[in-house]
Amino acid sequence: MNAAALRETLRFCEPHLAGARRVLDVGAGRGELVQALRGRGYEAIGVDKDEGTDFLDFAGGPFAPAGVLIADEFDVDAPDEATARYWLRIKGREGDALREWRHHHAHHGVLASGRAMREAIAARFTLREERTAPYLYRYLPDEVDDDRVFLEETRLIAAGSLRPVGLRLLASR
Ligand SMILES: C[S@@+](CC[C@H](N)C(=O)[O-])C[C@H]1O[C@@H](n2cnc3c(N)ncnc32)[C@H](O)[C@@H]1O
Repeated sequence: MNAAALRETLRFCEPHLAGARRVLDVGAGRGELVQALRGRGYEAIGVDKDEGTDFLDFAGGPFAPAGVLIADEFDVDAPDEATARYWLRIKGREGDALREWRHHHAHHGVLASGRAMREAIAARFTLREERTAPYLYRYLPDEVDDDRVFLEETRLIAAGSLRPVGLRLLASR
């Protein structure tokens, strides 16, 4: 997760964490959000199948009660052709964008599909909040610390030119 993404994710999360001590980040990736939340005093834990823990097998561990679950993900089914083209441009390429998008994200697991993610979380927790969000700016290299693509993506979504690819679910027990 690049610095712009971490800043924006914290801006989104923190109002929802008022009163919570424990935070569970599912699909935590490399754990940047977990580290940042720990630095702010939360007992944050992250699970990610690429790091050896499948959320579907995760019983909750020390998470409960008074915990908030965050899934800060994308929805693989969200992009249309224009949105996929914008994604490829961020990566510095052109091509058959929607096909590449689907191919690139085909094996990203249950947390990559909005529908599957919603079902898997709702079966284990109580869903509290669902929000779409810009996401494609996160494909900028980690060393690029620049909010301009985030702001442009936000504007293009508001104008109806791009679909929002980010999907955030908040839940509790
Ligand atoms: C789109 S990435 C988001 C990573 C991170 N939240 C971020 O925004 O940088 C989705 C993550 O969910 C993880 N994932 C998918 N299915 C999972 C599952 N069943 N259990 C745990 N992690 C899963 C993938 O390994 C991947 O790291």
